[in-house]
Amino acid sequence: MDFEFLLPTKIVMKKGIRFETGAQLKALSMEHVLVITDSGIKNAGLLTDIYASLAESGVTFEEFSDVKPNPRDADCDLIAAQTKGRKIDGILAIGGGSVIDTAKAVSILHTNGGSVNDYEGAFTVKVDPTPIVCIPTTAGTGSEVTFFSVITDMKRKYKMSILDYKIGPKLALLDVDLTASLPASIASSTGMDALTHSIEAYTARVANPISDALALHAIKLISENLLEAVHGTANEQAREQMLVGSLIAGAAFGNADIGSVHCISEAIGGLYDTPHGVANAIFLPYVFKQNIDADVKRHAEVGYALGVDRALSHEDAAKAAVEILFTFSEKVNIPKFRNVRGVNPEDFALLAQNSKKNISDFNNAKAMTEQDYLRIFEEAYGTE
Ligand SMILES: [Fe+2]
Repeated sequence: MDFEFLLPTKIVMKKGIRFETGAQLKALSMEHVLVITDSGIKNAGLLTDIYASLAESGVTFEEFSDVKPNPRDADCDLIAAQTKGRKIDGILAIGGGSVIDTAKAVSILHTNGGSVNDYEGAFTVKVDPTPIVCIPTTAGTGSEVTFFSVITDMKRKYKMSILDYKIGPKLALLDVDLTASLPASIASSTGMDALTHSIEAYTARVANPISDALALHAIKLISENLLEAVHGTANEQAREQMLVGSLIAGAAFGNADIGSVHCISEAIGGLYDTPHGVANAIFLPYVFKQNIDADVKRHAEVGYALGVDRALSHEDAAKAAVEILFTFSEKVNIPKFRNVRGVNPEDFALLAQNSKKNISDFNNAKAMTEQDYLRIFEEAYGTE
């Protein structure tokens, strides 16, 4: 059995760790950092304590606070151009997956130049990027420990993936207080993204024993805590478990990669700007069902981790898992595919083509053709 596993990110989980951000950056010899965040985080007041900590430690910063969901290539190029030659020795990403993925893209451009589109694909980065510290504010992306950055190419309306070990963040600071004001819609979509990461990592072709262990535990943590974290934000313990669960899922899929659910959701996000977690949640049960016969036992084990009765046969447990996944989506108010803004059956051929083109298509549990993708789009669209 041959495999590699990498987790270069130091992880510090502690309620109130945001008050120590400055000291943590200083310990990494960061004196002047670029803060990348979004307007929702800024307006919610989540930067206040962090900035006070930077001031206390004498760390200076400049800020870009306009990252959009499904982050755009032009924004990455703009931030890099605006901060070129400013002696920035670290990037502090405060936000969800869009913010962290933008930080990764900008970190590459700082030291390698060019446009973000030049780095599409795997292992294209030559020079070590500017080091990144992440403070996640959602429990979903896992991007604080992965080597992926997914950026929308606005001309092609296509979400391109950059995969490179060099963009793995140096440090992740997890503070449960920062998810207390998360709107339910974001808690649900990001939580379903995390569930998708853990399930795709476990059933992926390049899964390995370490990613397996992480993925199974993440499925359990997320499935036990997601509903409570979405509907009862006052439940700090549930939010904390989601924060850990999504990070563990990130460590799993960072090494095992993802599969066709993400290939589909990135195709959809590129064309319709659909929130990433919503698109994943819609297609997770359909792809899971399609994949079962590639490895019934593995899909049954996902079922058991989701709480299916262990007395059930592998086949029945895998089928029961599909129903659980549909139910999860319903309970966290994920819309049906036909109700997603912009969806038009005339686009399905292009969506199938773009899904097949995705860097992670090869890794799906079952080999997929464009026809298979097309069938899944039609099945999901036909469901009332
Ligand atoms: Fe994802």
